[in-house]
Formats: sequence, C-alpha cells, structure tokens
Amino acid sequence: MARKTFLIVLIIGFVAGLSLAAAAGRTGQQVYESICKACHGTGLSGAPKFGDKVWVQLEKKEGLKELVKDAIKGERAMPPKGGCADCTDEEVRAAVKYLIDSAQK
Ligand code: HEC
Repeated sequence: MARKTFLIVLIIGFVAGLSLAAAAGRTGQQVYESICKACHGTGLSGAPKFGDKVWVQLEKKEGLKELVKDAIKGERAMPPKGGCADCTDEEVRAAVKYLIDSAQK
C-alpha cells in the first residue's frame, strides 16, 4: 500500500517537474528549430536567412531591442512571434539572439 502511494507521488512529482521545465522557457535554439527555421532556415518570403551576415547589419542598424520588438509584433511577411502563439517574449528574444549569433561566427 505505502509503496503504491510512493509511486503515485513519484509520478506526480515527475509531471510537475516537466511542466515547470516548460514554464521556465525554451532556449533560443529550441524556439528557432521548432518555429523560426520554417522561414529563416530557407529565406522564405525574403526572411533573413540563418547564418547570413545580414543579421549583423540588422543588429547594428536597429539593435537587439528593436529587432525583438519587431519579431514580437511582426513585420510585413513576418507574422507576430513567427506565428508561435504560446511563445513568451523572453523566448522570442532568445530566438532573435540565436539568429544574430548564427551570423557572428
Ligand atoms: C512565416 C515565416 C516566418 C517565420 C515562421 C518567422 N519569420 Fe522572422 N521574418 C520573416 C520574414 C519574411 C521577414 C522579413 C520581413 C521584412 O523585413 O519584410 C522576417 C524578419 C525577421 C526579423 C527582422 C525584423 C526586422 O526588423 O527587420 C526578425 C528579428 C525575425 N524575423 C525573427 C524571427 C523569429 C525570432 C522567429 C521565430 C520565433 C521568426 N522570425 C519566425 C518570416 C518569418
């Protein structure tokens, strides 16, 4: 009996741990891979491509803050948050940083 209770507690703890991890946010790479890559991986509809030097120029011209703002509210062919309704602003920001970093190697 006690053993069964222990198991149930263990399972609940595991599930709670998982949802905590999700709430803590995805990394820039995870968001990029699951959302942004669809367009920024190939340059679809004129999206600046992953690894393209244009990201460095964009950051120089607009700055990270402005780029993050644009990514959150969308810009021309770019949908708000890249269409990721459940992405937090922090996650979008991390993904923008990931894109900029991709061009700085
Ligand atoms: C449906 C395709 C699509 C997806 C998905 C997408 N983007 Fe974009 N993105 C674009 C296009 C197209 C542009 C170019 C917009 C323009 O300047 O006309 C763009 C431009 C940008 C810019 C530059 C904005 C500026 O001020 O010039 C940033 C930053 C950006 N995207 C970040 C992201 C991030 C981060 C994600 C993932 C969360 C993402 N995008 C997902 C299509 C997409």
